Amino acid sequence: MNVGMKRLAAALTLVCVGLTSVNALAEDANPKRGRVYFKMVCTVCHMTQAGKAIPPSSLTMAEWGAYMDADKHDKSGASNTSVKYYVSQEYRKSVADSNKAAKKFLDVPDAQLFADVRAFAISGAKDSDTPASCE
Ligand code: HEC
Repeated sequence: MNVGMKRLAAALTLVCVGLTSVNALAEDANPKRGRVYFKMVCTVCHMTQAGKAIPPSSLTMAEWGAYMDADKHDKSGASNTSVKYYVSQEYRKSVADSNKAAKKFLDVPDAQLFADVRAFAISGAKDSDTPASCE
């Protein structure tokens, strides 16, 4: 192998390692926990504050991925503009007395619960195999 080939091989190895770790993260997501949290925290608030459920089936898989990763939420300003805020331990603590799911998942790290909710939303998106119109 010449030097150019060696550099290319090294670069490809790095890319592959990077992709593997992203996949590992995605596999670690727990969509069942995400579903419980989505239903009992996100939807409950949407029903009362927005007057509609805003279920996973309201967006496509690509739209959910982009929405979650952009960390946008409610541009009207009626609630927090960060969707990550609503999965954070800070938020869970603030509603733990009145919300059983927030209390139950109090110890789950922010990044883990975010991955769980993100995975559930995508798994129930309108163009998924299992659209979740819910709840
Ligand atoms: C404290 C109340 C509250 C909580 C908790 C909450 N939301 Fe919302 N959400 C709102 C309001 C209010 C809107 C604006 C609805 C409208 O269009 O009138 C909204 C809108 C949305 C929208 C529509 C797009 C947008 O940004 O306007 C999505 C998607 C969404 N929320 C996702 C979530 C997810 C996922 C969670 C849970 C991790 C969550 N929300 C938690 C109040 C909340």
